[in-house]
Amino acid sequence: MIKIAPSILSADFARLGEDIRTVETADYLHFDVMDGLFVPNISIGIPVLQSVRKATDMVLDVHLMITEPVRYVAEFVKAGADILVFHVESQAPDKTQDAIRKVRAMGARVGLSVRPKTQWEILLPYLDSLDLVLVMTVEPGFGGQAFMQDQLPKIAALRREIDRRGIRCELEVDGGINVETARLCVEAGANVLVAGSAVFGAPDRADMIARLRGAAGKDEPS
Ligand code: DX5
Ligand code: ZN
Repeated sequence: MIKIAPSILSADFARLGEDIRTVETADYLHFDVMDGLFVPNISIGIPVLQSVRKATDMVLDVHLMITEPVRYVAEFVKAGADILVFHVESQAPDKTQDAIRKVRAMGARVGLSVRPKTQWEILLPYLDSLDLVLVMTVEPGFGGQAFMQDQLPKIAALRREIDRRGIRCELEVDGGINVETARLCVEAGANVLVAGSAVFGAPDRADMIARLRGAAGKDEPS
């Protein structure tokens, strides 16, 4: 089953609660955190996450694009993250291991993300301890960018490795997802699709969520 995670980066932050209610048929709610250092943009953080946690029962999929996330992972889980994802490039490997342990000890799910230029093999030492891997299909930092087709082999390689190990690790993609690119990602092996502008820019958001979910083929309305 394909899961859809609307990214609130494309929502109207002055009407965030109402916007969240329009996407509640989705599986996860994607929450992008940027610090202006790891990526050239600044978005939202802990106080907003606390408010969103109070406003919805959706599974909160928090994507940290910040330097040295180990410093903040506990705060984000406390603020309401159900799944906490951070970048493998954002700190030294011992800190990444430490951050994974911290999130798990608090009972939340944990994921690692890779930027487009990062080789997937960097994830190999961590894979058995992850609930999710996130492949960026744009350079992280902004919504509304074009999907990078050259990331498809990375998704396929990770799918093969996850299946070979027989582990329960979800494979999520983020960046430039629309009905067409969703299909390519699902065919390559992704099972969670983040979509910001495609969902929040659609006239009927629930319909767009259903169309993205049907991206693999048969149940997609024509
Ligand atoms: C970008 C963020 C994405 C972003 C995706 O760095 O991580 O989650 O919201 O936006 P779209 O779907 O518009 O590419
Ligand atoms: Zn994201």
